[in-house]
Amino acid sequence: RMREGLEIPDWFGYPEVVAELRKTFPPRARQGVTLFFTGLSGSGKSTIANAVMVKLMERGGRPVTLLDGDVVRKHLSSELGFSRAHRDLNIQRIGFVAAEITRNGGVAICAPIAPYTATRADVREMVEAANGGFIEIHVATPLAECERRDRKGLYAKARAGQIKGFTGIDDPYEAPVDPELRIDTTDSTPEEAAQQVLLKLEHLGFID
Ligand code: PPS
Repeated sequence: RMREGLEIPDWFGYPEVVAELRKTFPPRARQGVTLFFTGLSGSGKSTIANAVMVKLMERGGRPVTLLDGDVVRKHLSSELGFSRAHRDLNIQRIGFVAAEITRNGGVAICAPIAPYTATRADVREMVEAANGGFIEIHVATPLAECERRDRKGLYAKARAGQIKGFTGIDDPYEAPVDPELRIDTTDSTPEEAAQQVLLKLEHLGFID
């Protein structure tokens, strides 16, 4: 309790200091964290996310949960399509689950396309409100390279007009302006990319 008459000057920013302290304790290495991969179809999100998951599991510590785009679509969002409203709902669901995992001190790894900036910002807010870290990783492999690889043959179908509203072809992808990390897989292996993610986690204090 504050003593009567004790004035805390405005410039001291007392509430801000308290907010900072709340974030710092417990230390980040024991807080939950969400790794949110975003990028075009075929950019390498799932591959890197899987490699990061394996590395984190090998290290031990927090439980790790992977919420991969395809798996979520199958089990959590099976009734949804690819309109803006449905994509947003899909990302909100992923965000909700990630926030719960983060709240309980786990690591949530998400790897959807998540094409809209505003929706990604909502997820960041949800996760941070759950007292955890949010790390946005833009898998920034250029469209030309994703299309060249065309692992699932979907770009060819989109170009042929057999799939309508395909991200990057005739549907938007709003690239993150200020992600915690940006990775272009054109010239790097999934292993190198995963290593970059772990380094970032270490620099931010989320792993020792
Ligand atoms: S979103 O926008 O975040 O809700 O998308 P996501 O849940 O990650 O699903 C993307 C995968 O769905 C396949 N697919 C499409 N992607 C983009 N646009 C359209 N119209 C579309 N239709 C099907 C595609 O295989 C994506 O797979 P990934 O894993 O991203 O390559």
